[in-house]
Amino acid sequence: MSLRTFASVGRRTAALAIITAAIAAWLLLPIWPAAWTDAQIETLSSLWIGSLESLPPDPSNAVAENSAAASFGQQLFFDTRLSANGAISCATCHQPERRFTDGLPKGQAIGTSGRNTSSIVGVAYSPWLYWDGRRDSLWSQALSPLEDSNEHGSDRTHIVAVVATDPSYSSIYESLFGAAPGSPDSHSVDRTFANIGKAIAAYERLLMPGPSRFDRYVEAVVARDEQSQKEIFSDDEVFGLQLFIGEANCTQCHNGPLLSNHEFHNTGVIAFAGEVPDKGRVVGVRDVLEDPFNCLGDYSDGSDCAELIFARTGSELIGAMRTPSLRNLENTGPFMHKGQIETLAQVLQHYNEAPPAMIGHNEAQPLDLSGRELRQLEVFLRTLAAPLATADQWLRPPPVNVEENSGDQAGGNASGDSILTTVSL
Ligand code: HEC
Ligand code: HEC
Repeated sequence: MSLRTFASVGRRTAALAIITAAIAAWLLLPIWPAAWTDAQIETLSSLWIGSLESLPPDPSNAVAENSAAASFGQQLFFDTRLSANGAISCATCHQPERRFTDGLPKGQAIGTSGRNTSSIVGVAYSPWLYWDGRRDSLWSQALSPLEDSNEHGSDRTHIVAVVATDPSYSSIYESLFGAAPGSPDSHSVDRTFANIGKAIAAYERLLMPGPSRFDRYVEAVVARDEQSQKEIFSDDEVFGLQLFIGEANCTQCHNGPLLSNHEFHNTGVIAFAGEVPDKGRVVGVRDVLEDPFNCLGDYSDGSDCAELIFARTGSELIGAMRTPSLRNLENTGPFMHKGQIETLAQVLQHYNEAPPAMIGHNEAQPLDLSGRELRQLEVFLRTLAAPLATADQWLRPPPVNVEENSGDQAGGNASGDSILTTVSL
């Protein structure tokens, strides 16, 4: 055998070995997703939007279910007169077309907010508001941006004056709350301010997530309809879902039909260079206990404040943020409490590495997933996107004056759903 022939045989053997190794590696990977077990089907059903219970009442807000209050709240949500410069409304940052976020790392209005603008879709289910949970009701939360120097930059005296001097606002206010806004009797500035928050909260309670492709897939799984399962989800999406509820352990925190446990966790998200790490819930819990507009305060309409009374405290809350819902990932980036992570792929890379937290302790463990598995998780997460379950009329500035809607509809609806069908603007 000449040297040349010998070299060519060697090359062929090497090529064969590489091909064999590649086939072997490929065979080790599952080609088709395994069938769902009963236990997995139970988990899937718990994530299904159909398992979302109807919105619990908010006893601290007497107008929470009131459709006239929701219409008034919608007006206020889009009203720039409430701001110091006449140019900012809640919708400046919570833009309906971006699922009530703004596409920025941090909210931007009169100044720059401290954190990333949260989507408010479905947030009425959460006992705590803000990334650090420093408010305990939608209505008490709504008061904070109005007086935040970076957001509306206004103050309660100005806000109450806007409502008191706009004839349609003051008339609907009076019909809802039984006295003129800011009147010398019991409707002091603080009480009127709290009531304005309650109307905004009644509006926000209508913003609900709708069924996604994922939810249709779960229905097909529960019905054991394999044909529909194949039509609804690609194999990669099924693999991604298997990882999500299995090896990647995402459902430890992202569980229930909103894909959030509404609890606080430290997941080791790194602060921007030059910024002090965010202390998160450990400060948030202190703030909510001191808030004069909390459930135990003078302006609350109810007395069931168990969540607040038994709020968890402790050093494990250092750097902990509230688990966000994952039903809102299209068009809502950048992600995390300060918008530190730009893309979903980078979020998954973060979980794969699970770096040590800058303060406190990262509860998530490194995952060691392959690039292919991370892509499968990402395509699965995108199947959770869906339009809101809320009628379009609520997703834009109200076209007509509140006055036309006032009065006759005051008096409470049993559920958000009935409000959607009974009010026509
Ligand atoms: C400058 C932009 C900006 C404006 C204006 C603004 N927000 Fe926000 N909003 C934010 C940011 C940023 C956060 C998160 C802040 C944090 O957690 O510390 C937030 C959080 C919230 C939350 C909590 C969501 C959750 O998941 O916990 C609600 C509800 C909310 N805003 C409603 C409103 C309402 C109602 C108004 C008007 C009265 C308003 N916002 C005005 C930027 C804004
Ligand atoms: C230990 C609880 C926990 C686990 C486990 C967990 N998450 Fe999270 N997730 C959170 C918390 C808390 C945040 C907010 C963290 C922050 O901003 O600092 C978050 C944020 C996110 C975000 C950003 C959402 C947004 O609107 O900014 C995505 C996407 C996400 N998680 C997906 C996942 C996936 C996928 C997995 C599984 C690989 C996972 N999470 C595992 C608690 C957890």
